[in-house]
Amino acid sequence: MSIKSMTVMASVLWASFTPQGFADAVDQVALKAEAVAIVKRFGGALKPQLKQALQSGGPVNAIGVCAVRAPEIAKQLSLETGWQLKRVSLKFRHSKTAMPDKWEEKILRQFDERQSQGELPAEMAYAEVVGDQFRFIKAQGVEAICLTCHGETLDSSVRDALNKHYPDDRAIGYSLGQVRGAFSLSRAL
Ligand code: HEC
Repeated sequence: MSIKSMTVMASVLWASFTPQGFADAVDQVALKAEAVAIVKRFGGALKPQLKQALQSGGPVNAIGVCAVRAPEIAKQLSLETGWQLKRVSLKFRHSKTAMPDKWEEKILRQFDERQSQGELPAEMAYAEVVGDQFRFIKAQGVEAICLTCHGETLDSSVRDALNKHYPDDRAIGYSLGQVRGAFSLSRAL
């Protein structure tokens, strides 16, 4: 366990010595569980559509599906749950939506560090109260299917389609098992 997470645990325990603090600590556990469930729904909705688009129309077609469906699913889930949802990355593709803020950037760097020490992205998540927001971030690792559009060598048709949609694309050159980015969720407390 990292020193940081021990510090967080210690402060949660300390807070729980007062009745108000106890309520806060319990709420945070519930909020985290809610965030985990929403991320599951997000990924669970997106990945099958991506796979299907790849199979039925190839990668260039799937780029279009990813570009349209990912923000639609995020918006829908946000309306349903009241949480803000984003996908962010240190090497983002969609510069308007995926550029991390300071807090996200800090955690993404920690995720990269943890990955370089052998931890699996699928196991990396972090929750924190920041100002009046509860924030939750969960890493997304690079799997084989991702390499078609985020890998080191891309088919030229894929490269062209990406250049057209995302002239400032930075989300290439990844290899298996790296941290591609993260789901970032927040809600007002
Ligand atoms: C068919 C091509 C394609 C495949 C395969 C693909 N992606 Fe992407 N990815 C995209 C496109 C296009 C975007 C930009 C979407 C948008 O405009 O919001 C994107 C954006 C993202 C983002 C949001 C952050 C950013 O850089 O904009 C993450 C995170 C991400 N992809 C992860 C993955 C992971 C993990 C996989 C494998 C499970 C994967 N992608 C497979 C095309 C693809």
